[in-house]
Amino acid sequence: MSSDELDTLAKRPIAELIADPLELDHEWFRAELDRLADLASHVEAAFDGHPQVPSGLFAHLSALRDSLVSHIESEELVVFPLVSSGQAVRAQETIRGLELEHRDLERAAEQTRRLTTGFAAPADASAEWTDLYASLAAFEVRKRRHTKIESEILFPRIAYADAESSPLDRDKE
Ligand SMILES: [Fe+2]
Ligand SMILES: [Fe+2]
Repeated sequence: MSSDELDTLAKRPIAELIADPLELDHEWFRAELDRLADLASHVEAAFDGHPQVPSGLFAHLSALRDSLVSHIESEELVVFPLVSSGQAVRAQETIRGLELEHRDLERAAEQTRRLTTGFAAPADASAEWTDLYASLAAFEVRKRRHTKIESEILFPRIAYADAESSPLDRDKE
């Protein structure tokens, strides 16, 4: 994401930012990870014994889905409602945990790259295998953009909020 795009997003009211892109991304992540885990399971079975088969990718994506869904739920059920109701200060403890989880997600992305040899499908890959790697690469781009918006725009604004001045109030000034 360019610094211009980040600046433009940073100027938007926090409630708008939560609705789009953050909640829209969450919806897409959940559905897309289900589809990708499913595809990985097909590819691993269909190419069993192939020297470049991504062994363990289905298990890795299933674990990633579980941790990402729990991360997203903390944001949607705890952080976003507190921020939207002007109680951002109460979300700070949860946010410290979410920041650590963003680092875990980055490590999971490195593992995805290792398992897929940098998303490079072999010459004899099927359409499904090629789709899996292209989609995983697109997933990682969107996930990195998403965590950057949270870590660099949303969470810092909440961290500086105090009981008298919520980010929503400051948006109106
Ligand atoms: Fe998120
Ligand atoms: Fe997040």
